[in-house]
Amino acid sequence: MDKFVITGGTPLTGEVTISGAKNAVVAILPATILAEDVCRIENIPNISDVSAMINILSIMGAHVKYINKNTIEIDTRYINSYVVEHELSKQLRASYYLIGALLGRFNHAEVAMPGGCYLGVRPIDQHIKGFEALGATVTMEENAMVNARADKLLGNSIYLDVVSVGATINCMLAAVKAKGLTIIENAAKEPHIVDLANFLNTLGADIRGAGTDVIKIRGVEKLHGCEYSIIPDQIEAGTYMVAAAATKGDVLVKNVIPKHLESITAKLIECGVEITEYDDSIRVRMTRRPGKCNIKTMPHPGFPTDMQPQFSVLLSQAKGMSIISESVWDNRFRYAEQLSRMGAVIHVDGKTAVIEGVDGLRGAPIRADDLRAGAAMMIAGFIAGGVTEIEDIHHIERGYENVVEKFRALGANIERREFPDDDQKIQLGAG
Ligand code: EPZ
Repeated sequence: MDKFVITGGTPLTGEVTISGAKNAVVAILPATILAEDVCRIENIPNISDVSAMINILSIMGAHVKYINKNTIEIDTRYINSYVVEHELSKQLRASYYLIGALLGRFNHAEVAMPGGCYLGVRPIDQHIKGFEALGATVTMEENAMVNARADKLLGNSIYLDVVSVGATINCMLAAVKAKGLTIIENAAKEPHIVDLANFLNTLGADIRGAGTDVIKIRGVEKLHGCEYSIIPDQIEAGTYMVAAAATKGDVLVKNVIPKHLESITAKLIECGVEITEYDDSIRVRMTRRPGKCNIKTMPHPGFPTDMQPQFSVLLSQAKGMSIISESVWDNRFRYAEQLSRMGAVIHVDGKTAVIEGVDGLRGAPIRADDLRAGAAMMIAGFIAGGVTEIEDIHHIERGYENVVEKFRALGANIERREFPDDDQKIQLGAG
């Protein structure tokens, strides 16, 4: 098993270039199923969730050609199956976008329930509600296969009971070629929703309102090929910004869309971090202990839940007490146990964490519980005195391109080290 081994205590300085957005590309790749020609997609992050999605599409029959490590040409015309078995779908959460895309293309999809980070219960009732509104019959079959089938998809109004990124994307995918007008109300507004809409419109779709809570989709008969470049990753950018601040560093975070980062920069400024915004980069500089602040996670444009663990690490060093309320996921504080092992003082009660700031952390053997928790543990390791060993790093590599190289270029002392099997078992404490 490989681990990240970090010797902390060095402020991060220099420049880092942000990769393409994971949560955009994992929706855009399935969306190519709807195109009737080759799609050339640039700025694809080289991460394991993307390799998993490309692998699934290839197994289904898509022709995929790598132009370079971040650009592919994909031709999905050769896909002739609408079935995705558990062995494939379990590899990532976004495999559920194959339901909407296959339904949109074949009027039929059989896709096993997806995998992904454990953040609490992750129902798909709103996705199903959307498919049914468009005329599909959806049943749950053996082996947790979701079977969605329609004679014909017809545009309709879909009101989402909860603001859901996944349901909004799946409804868009299923509706884009449905006959007539589909209106998605209470839609999610994340940057990746807008990126998917822009991609589909480049293919010839007619989608308006993405980025607001009402998305209108007028169905079209055919979608053609295109050339498209994925937007920069909001959460990767935020992670490097918080890492810079938490280590009292000075980092220029390049290739970002500052507008997408407003909720993150606002909270950093509240903690006393110096932020300078340029057209497509942000400089983050911190010279002292952060001030306390309270955070409530919300759908975009609120503070993103996917930045909550990283911010907890910053606030673990704050002067005073901070409160974090998680309002998107039921179980996103599992990392608190790991952080406590490093000397942080964090009390979790349900969906609220109270953090009493301390000055410094100490290195420890810890684990990445999920993708963003893993990123947070890396930041904790950069702050801590001594050595931190992080296991289960596959979670981190699902979503951060070249994470070791990027942090090393900022001066971090981190390496990915292979450990023999006998060494794997770390005593993680009682319980
Ligand atoms: C997406 O997950 C992201 N994943 C998550 O990022 C992110 O945390 C989340 O959106 C919120 O921003 C991808 O884009 C692949 P939701 P998703 O549907 O779509 C409830 C990361 O670290 N809900 O917006 O699964 C649900 O339980 C990951 O990159 C229903 O009740 O999230 C949750 O409480 C982890 N019924 C809330 O809505 C449904 O049918 C938001 O979930 C769907 C969701």
